[in-house]
Amino acid sequence: MVSLPDFIRGLPKAELHLHIEGSLEPEQMFEFAKRNAIALPFASVEALRAAYDFANLQDFLDIYYQGADVLRTEADFRDLALAYFHRVAADGARHVELFFDPQTHTARGVPFGVVAEGLLAGMAQAQRQLGVSSKLILCFLRHLDEDAAFATLREAEPWLDRIVGVGLDSSEVGHPPAKFAQVFRAARERGLKLVAHAGEEGPPAYVWEALDLLHVDRIDHGNRALEDDALVQRLVREKLTLTVCPLSNLKLCVVSDLAGHPLKRMLQLGLKATVNADDPAYFGGYLAENWIAVSQALALTREDLIVLAKNSFTGSFLTPDEVAGHLAAIDAYAAAQPAIA
Ligand code: ADE
Ligand code: ZN
Repeated sequence: MVSLPDFIRGLPKAELHLHIEGSLEPEQMFEFAKRNAIALPFASVEALRAAYDFANLQDFLDIYYQGADVLRTEADFRDLALAYFHRVAADGARHVELFFDPQTHTARGVPFGVVAEGLLAGMAQAQRQLGVSSKLILCFLRHLDEDAAFATLREAEPWLDRIVGVGLDSSEVGHPPAKFAQVFRAARERGLKLVAHAGEEGPPAYVWEALDLLHVDRIDHGNRALEDDALVQRLVREKLTLTVCPLSNLKLCVVSDLAGHPLKRMLQLGLKATVNADDPAYFGGYLAENWIAVSQALALTREDLIVLAKNSFTGSFLTPDEVAGHLAAIDAYAAAQPAIA
């Protein structure tokens, strides 16, 4: 019999909620700062790590945007992506749909193409060397206005055939999905998939808006949807995937402890929940660590874990044939591992 951590690491799975800038480890931040001759406002890796103490989403975002300043060249973005893929491959990920925040970089004078080409090079290398497939999702920063999002979509045009969709992230409260209805419509008309962070700190009304005004294909987080029974019924009926991030929720005080995390309830309600890392370098764990921590805290069963793994592929933007292949791999794994110690 395998242990719970071994069962989880071996289980084929996808990661659907990962901000690549949030995988920038403190050591790597110092390395990039050195090679780009940038002075960091922290004396050491330890001092930087000690600053990762957040009371809410905004506390985190302030330090996350500051950290991203060390990313300047195509090689930086490629190396950042590759380091992440090595970690997530060891966690049993077979596929990743990763977010990037182009406005964080273009506002500093780093061209969109430098960011996109660097990330795409890392993704191609991960496919070749690690067998991990991936797709790229361009996120609009919701604390900026819709005109800025439109300008970013225009800048992205030459790369849109290699970008699967658009998302919406950054400071949620005070920046409802309605603010981005037109640019999401333009993205939809362009054939892009649509996702949005909603219900992380924001109210259930923001999840309704993401569905009704943005027409999203997935909800990122969605924790606060559970406060509204009619919304839960809608999400269940439409089989909307929620990309849930347990260690992020803990670090950003969305939940006070993991034992009180809503993941088990989401599964019991029939919601298509998945487990993801969000910003692993800042929140204390990559994909498997999220799975292990939340499984232990909520006493998830082997069957729950198999459902979560299947949800991660059925909720992905892979083709039906590709999804079917991954589901068959999960079934084969489950048959070979009939119990957890
Ligand atoms: N950007 C990076 N991580 C985020 C999160 N968890 N919520 C909103 N914006 C983000
Ligand atoms: Zn996120």
